[in-house]
Amino acid sequence: MNDRFLRACRRESVDRTPLWIMRQAGRYLPEYRELRARVDFLTLCRTPELAVEASLMPIRRFDLDAAIVFSDILLPLESLGCELSFDPSPRIARPLRSSEEIAALRPRPVAEVVPYVGDAVALLRRELSGRVPVIGFSGAPFTLAAYLTEGHGHDGFPAIRALRAADPAALGTLLDTLSVMVTEHLELQIAAGAQAVQIFDSWAGILSPADFAAFALPAVRRAIRGLRRYHVPVIYFAPAAGHVLELAATTGADVLGVCWRTPLDAARRLTGGRVALQGNLDPAALLAPPARVRERALAVLDEAGDEPGHIMNLGHGILPGTPVASVEALVAAVAERERRTA
Ligand code: CP3
Repeated sequence: MNDRFLRACRRESVDRTPLWIMRQAGRYLPEYRELRARVDFLTLCRTPELAVEASLMPIRRFDLDAAIVFSDILLPLESLGCELSFDPSPRIARPLRSSEEIAALRPRPVAEVVPYVGDAVALLRRELSGRVPVIGFSGAPFTLAAYLTEGHGHDGFPAIRALRAADPAALGTLLDTLSVMVTEHLELQIAAGAQAVQIFDSWAGILSPADFAAFALPAVRRAIRGLRRYHVPVIYFAPAAGHVLELAATTGADVLGVCWRTPLDAARRLTGGRVALQGNLDPAALLAPPARVRERALAVLDEAGDEPGHIMNLGHGILPGTPVASVEALVAAVAERERRTA
């Protein structure tokens, strides 16, 4: 099996830096857009054969070192009775606002609500037959809480910051509930065969260091603690969170995802080599001509340095308008750089 991704997660030496791309199964691929013209997003997520088809699309096209299951971070929120829709941005029909609503939550087991996520992981693992490892994923408790309280994506997510001010105990209760959900969601995927898991804390960067330390961090730590016994690498990714980078390195995750705003050499210094790093080419760099993509990618690899424990990726999800030729240039740039430490 190609295990350079899993080796890098464990900070072991590799023949070359592994590469995968956040949101690699998505709209920049013509074959994905074709599939989506036939089926809506939720049906795609809930039909394992189709979800696996989407996961395999980037693997068939490019020499990537990991596949990610096709799903969405918001789907397990249905275990709290939420009604979700995507157009393509997500909406939650009745956002949670009051401490009464939060205290009244009675979550159903995640495995009963999204069994298709486990089925998709198992089928993907079978279809890949060892070609590359399978990554499972979840939202982090804080980011899920941000959507649950706001009801949709919103700059700065004011509803959760208002809840933090008005009723911090209610926010704590909500995060406790979501920590359990995140652990269950990832356990489901690990049991089905996921060989690593990534936790997306897409909005934790809206918090001050004190609030990150008091709310987002303990919630994700609790979720990760519940996974230790499986010995599967955990990646924690919180973009736009350079102001809490050292705290973000203490979640218990093996790998810290770094967005493009923080140089990898600075991230390495601040984390003292205690975690592997993943990232961090600016997704917008892939909108430049291929020769520029190559230059920018090589600059990221230089910044990562020669020590083991770097996984090449973008600094956030690939943009829907990205040309396929840019991804080809990125893959070629990574292949060009054999690891000196092999
Ligand atoms: O290749 C992959 O990574 C596919 C699996 C995947 C999706 N969403 C599919 C998807 C993953 C890992 C996610 C993560 C996700 N979902 C995050 C965290 C990552 C991040 O970018 O910070 C968040 C915040 C969500 C919530 C969500 N789902 C949003 C904000 C949107 C719409 C925004 C957008 O990208 O347009 C979705 C919809 C969604 N999830 C799409 C895909 C491929 C687009 C839907 C479509 O095909 O019409």
